[in-house]
Amino acid sequence: MAIDLLLGLQWGDEGKGKIVDVLTKKYDIIARFQGGPNAGHTLEFDGIKHVLHTIPSGIFHPTATNLVGNGVVIDPVIFKQELDNLAPFDIDINTSLLVSRKAHLILPTHRLLDAASELAKGKAKIGSTLKGIGPTYMDKTGRNGIRVGDIELASWKTRYQALRDKHLAMVANMNVNLEYDMDSLDKAFFEAIDFLKTNISFVDSEQFLSVAQKEGKHILAEGAQGSLLDIDFGTYPFVTSSNTTAAGACTGLGVAPNKIGEVYGIFKAYTTRVGSGPFPTELFDEIGETMGRVGHEFGATTGRSRRCGWLDLVALKYAVEVNGVTQLMMMKGDVLSGFDTLNVCVSYDYRGQNIQHLPYSLNAEEVEPQYTSLPGWEEDLTKMRSEDELPKTFMDYVAFIEAYVETPIKIVSVGPDRNQTIFRSS
Ligand code: IMP
Repeated sequence: MAIDLLLGLQWGDEGKGKIVDVLTKKYDIIARFQGGPNAGHTLEFDGIKHVLHTIPSGIFHPTATNLVGNGVVIDPVIFKQELDNLAPFDIDINTSLLVSRKAHLILPTHRLLDAASELAKGKAKIGSTLKGIGPTYMDKTGRNGIRVGDIELASWKTRYQALRDKHLAMVANMNVNLEYDMDSLDKAFFEAIDFLKTNISFVDSEQFLSVAQKEGKHILAEGAQGSLLDIDFGTYPFVTSSNTTAAGACTGLGVAPNKIGEVYGIFKAYTTRVGSGPFPTELFDEIGETMGRVGHEFGATTGRSRRCGWLDLVALKYAVEVNGVTQLMMMKGDVLSGFDTLNVCVSYDYRGQNIQHLPYSLNAEEVEPQYTSLPGWEEDLTKMRSEDELPKTFMDYVAFIEAYVETPIKIVSVGPDRNQTIFRSS
């Protein structure tokens, strides 16, 4: 059985958590393949809002198995906190949640290094979530990391101590003003490790998935962040430290490329970005401010306000192509109700040429977005539940996007709740 993928196509925060939750009924296994607690996947149902950082978004479905794959980086302290938040919901985490032994651990000193590195960069900072993501992936590729499977070995505390001390020396060398209490950081870390060892099943996840595929299980790989934050294909260096695109699912789960089935690409009807880095269609006016206010555009992990702007079809098409997207899902169309006109970026003026592809640099001095204006809609979409209720101007907006990116939009979401989801038949 092929494995389907679900990915964000912009700079993250597209609404992946909601769609995974909606689709989970069709799947036996939901598997996260990259990123870590920098993600904030929001799910809303029965009047309750849940934010997940490391745990896959299928966790609220009683029959789904949720797998944290080898490509994910895990902060045991945050992971334990997430599990504590699930306690009132009667979820048997012992059976419904599995963690790959090959996933790398975020140490408290990785977080310190992240903070020190951002302080040292000053104005050039990445705008990291400060969860230790970059330093942990650096230790992984530098072959110094500590993996989940290591904590089952007797010698691991010695290795922890050595890596921690090395990190502390690096922080000291960076000459930044960072206050921390290492004893309490160590204490919280080891308490969380003990909790995980007792409560969570560790697995050889590539083997687990291989058997599950042979048994005909339906598997969905859940991406985090977005394609424009990919370490290779994003707006480097203002990116995260993992491959957020489709190929990341292969390396982050141990799945062969020829085993990938559908690739669901999620995007917002406009664009947002949190943290630093180029954003050609960013709005600095009342329209951008309205999008942020109506769309509640605040980071689920950091609470930072998100930058907002028009939909960038050049960037969207790039993401569709890099990922091999087969179906699109458009989120937050409801937020655009009330604008007379909607602009969509259809090309860039770049170094004296008009282009329709993503160039090497998206820096504001080099890229001037070119727009087509489409009529807006007045209607409140949030109570609509079927395609035939949606206004014509909205459907024209959808059709324009589909034609540009040459991929069908199969779901439109008109609000945060599970039931505010319209499946399109055509
Ligand atoms: P890091 O992954 O915490 O190192 O952050 C690197 C960049 O990616 C920063 O601009 C963050 O704001 C951004 N980023 C990381 N995770 C997310 C996410 O889940 N949603 C949106 N932006 C993110």
